[in-house]
Amino acid sequence: MFGTTPRNTEVEGKQDVEGTEGVEGGVGLTALMVAAARAIETHRHDSLAQDVYAEHFVLATPASADWPVRVQQVPDGEANPLWGRFARYFGLRTRVLDDFLLLSVHTGNARQVVLFGAGLDSRAFRLDWPPGCVIFEIDREGVLAFKHKVLDGLSATPKATRVPIPIDLRADWVGALADAGFDTAAPSVWLAEGLMFYLPAAAETYLIDTVDRLSTEGSALAFEVKVEKDLLEYRDSPLYTSTAQQIGIDLLSLFDREPRPDSVGDLARKGWSTSVRTPFDFTRRHGRGPLPERNDALEGNRWVFANKPRP
Ligand SMILES: C[S@@+](CC[C@H](N)C(=O)[O-])C[C@H]1O[C@@H](n2cnc3c(N)ncnc32)[C@H](O)[C@@H]1O
Repeated sequence: MFGTTPRNTEVEGKQDVEGTEGVEGGVGLTALMVAAARAIETHRHDSLAQDVYAEHFVLATPASADWPVRVQQVPDGEANPLWGRFARYFGLRTRVLDDFLLLSVHTGNARQVVLFGAGLDSRAFRLDWPPGCVIFEIDREGVLAFKHKVLDGLSATPKATRVPIPIDLRADWVGALADAGFDTAAPSVWLAEGLMFYLPAAAETYLIDTVDRLSTEGSALAFEVKVEKDLLEYRDSPLYTSTAQQIGIDLLSLFDREPRPDSVGDLARKGWSTSVRTPFDFTRRHGRGPLPERNDALEGNRWVFANKPRP
């Protein structure tokens, strides 16, 4: 154990701890949505990220077996708000965070990587990790069990040591990470991709405080937040309505609606250097990806990159 855990009641929030545990419903289904987006991205002619495992996840469960895994399977193709623009967003996010992770491990000394809410992320299998890397993947038990069933069926081999940690982030994940062999004396790289907005505010605060506590100098963290004051402002946006209508995922009902903590400010006060970017910054850098539009559910999304400087 590394230290104190918040009492479950403080971090439980509105997520249903007893609720759907796997990928077939609730927040777990969002992992399949992102996998479908990555499958589509993989086969775009101007692909930003390649994930050959993604379509296997989507096709492996009745929950998503009839979703598209190629944009050509979508009647209105790239004009479809969900499988066009939103899927491209996930493709861009995958690429940007692939680059963040690879840069962090190849230019620094960190050899342990922690993926919070890893879902169906296959980075342990598809990225070129330096020797000695350990990838800890934290997600709920049902999601990781589904992931393993699919990957085992493909005889997939990780390119680093992979340590799945089946636990809810509202429970004692710190103890589970310690038990799994995380080394607090060594630098680390942390990622919370597509996760914070599902967590109760107290769980986000705890996560940030704990990452700081467990990170030596030379560690790095990236995470995604939404900064709009009122998420419902965009409830009629094409991204939210198409996601609900086409695949039955009501994102706004899954997002935690409490006021969000100032995680960037917290990290800065703890001495981390931080950089806050919009996805559109990276669209411009890569020459492809979503650009701002009216009534845009992506308007408040920010990607945060933080480093704990060496003295
Ligand atoms: C949108 S998916 C993103 C998955 C992955 N990071 C990606 O980008 O492909 C959100 C993931 O967060 C996980 N998640 C949400 N709340 C969680 C919690 N309280 N504890 C553990 N995992 C959680 C879900 O199970 C799901 O796999």
